[in-house]
Amino acid sequence: MILFKRPDDLIDFIQKKRKSIIKIGFVPTMGALHQGHISLINKSKSENDITICSIFVNPTQFNNPNDFEKYPITIEADIEQLELNGCDILFMPSVDDIYPENFQKNNFELGYLDAILEGKHRSGHFQGVCMVVKRLLEIVNCDVLYLGQKDYQQCMVIKKMATDLKIPVEIKISPTIREKNGLAMSSRNKRLNETQKESALVIFEVLCFLKENIFEINIDDLKETSMEKLIAKGFDVDYLEITDEILNPIAKAEKKQTIVALIAASIGDVRLIDNMMLNNANKAE
Ligand code: PAJ
Repeated sequence: MILFKRPDDLIDFIQKKRKSIIKIGFVPTMGALHQGHISLINKSKSENDITICSIFVNPTQFNNPNDFEKYPITIEADIEQLELNGCDILFMPSVDDIYPENFQKNNFELGYLDAILEGKHRSGHFQGVCMVVKRLLEIVNCDVLYLGQKDYQQCMVIKKMATDLKIPVEIKISPTIREKNGLAMSSRNKRLNETQKESALVIFEVLCFLKENIFEINIDDLKETSMEKLIAKGFDVDYLEITDEILNPIAKAEKKQTIVALIAASIGDVRLIDNMMLNNANKAE
């Protein structure tokens, strides 16, 4: 694996490689890598000639300074995992490389996506995500961008940004990787103590409960029972929403419709998010 720290060096390297016909896959991350990230690396490896992973804890997407300061950093273990899994290039820029003094801040038109769910509860978060992803895409110049369904709304935001700005990249979304007990893998899980980890299983349990009952029980009652389950385990719930494919809340479940459940909730000072497709109208499950 080749490690690049300076954007110009990576740009030069890619320009040279581009002289022959190659396909480049890109997996942006904030490090503290786990199997969820590695699943994206593996997917990219199986579909491209070169796989680039970036590790950059992006300050502009943290609305909560405490969350930024406590974001886990495990560079050595990350490098080891990437090498073990055959990643070709690791890009690890500094904050000044990504946001130089003359950096032009865009305002991204995200419409309702910026005002609901994560957008509502983490003001400015998606502006920061778009800022960094746009900048990273300019540097890595990839063919395919790999994202995880774990951050469902983020996928929609990045897709919208890429379409609106006519960025020529294909975006592929991979399923959420979970621990054996169902807990969605997340870098923030490293900050949970053993008791909190145990309590956190309730998120997956609630999502499964919603999936099992979405056509049996009305949505208001489902939401009420789910909230009770989360609160009983000590969670402070930012939202628990049941929506269509493009995140519009629904009041009634219909079989011909894609239905998604999304949860954001904190335990102690750790905020977790998860989601599950309750009904997939695009694919027979
Ligand atoms: P990060 O949280 O490190 O996640 C990097 C990528 O891994 C994202 O596409 C995320 O959806 C995916 N991912 C995380 N957990 C996953 C899991 N359990 N299963 C499958 N995929 C998973 O998301 C970010 O970083 C940042 O916002 C970023 C896009 C890098 C911009 O800074």
